[in-house]
Amino acid sequence: MTVAERVVLRAIRPDDLPRMFDLQSDPESNRVAVTIPRTREAFDALWAKALADPDCCAKAILVGVEFAGFISCFVMDGEDHVGYWIARESWGKGIASRALQLLLREVTRRPLIATAATSNLASLRVLQKCGFIVERVHLSPASERYPESEVAVHALR
Ligand SMILES: CC(C)(COP(=O)(O)OP(=O)(O)OC[C@H]1O[C@@H](n2cnc3c(N)ncnc32)[C@H](O)[C@@H]1OP(=O)(O)O)[C@@H](O)C(=O)NCCC(=O)NCCS
Repeated sequence: MTVAERVVLRAIRPDDLPRMFDLQSDPESNRVAVTIPRTREAFDALWAKALADPDCCAKAILVGVEFAGFISCFVMDGEDHVGYWIARESWGKGIASRALQLLLREVTRRPLIATAATSNLASLRVLQKCGFIVERVHLSPASERYPESEVAVHALR
């Protein structure tokens, strides 16, 4: 069985949050994602809200029983967005691609929107493999969460 074939999703539990915080704090992951890590306070506030929101579908990504990352579908500005994050030591094994494929079976509403920096080639490929199409490319201004970067807004319709 390949690593990707062993991927399963389960609901995020409060005891996943410390590991998720560590993943989202990893400098190399933030460089790739072109993001600025959240502070502990911002992270805790975001996830407390997300886990209480019935419109948010947030899943831990497991390989067998091992925690490998997280993936979620959440409402932003009235649109359904997806996002994902894989532990650096587990990159390049097909885990994000499989996790997104599994999430798309559970979350059936469409369209789904996904935004990725155009430099994040692995994420662009994951989205392409799952059927997302680039709808527009624009320069996203710097914010608390993102450095200025060119981003591709994808949709799965
Ligand atoms: C982006 C990320 C989720 C990818 O996770 P992953 O489990 O390694 O992805 P997969 O192994 O499923 O697929 C990666 C695909 O990108 C390809 N890829 C990886 N690096 C690449 C590169 N530098 N150039 C081109 N393609 C690349 C892989 O070959 C693979 O495609 P393939 O299946 O056709 O061979 C992971 O790097 C990550 O968590 N990064 C930090 C957070 C992040 O960027 N989140 C997404 C924000 S939009």
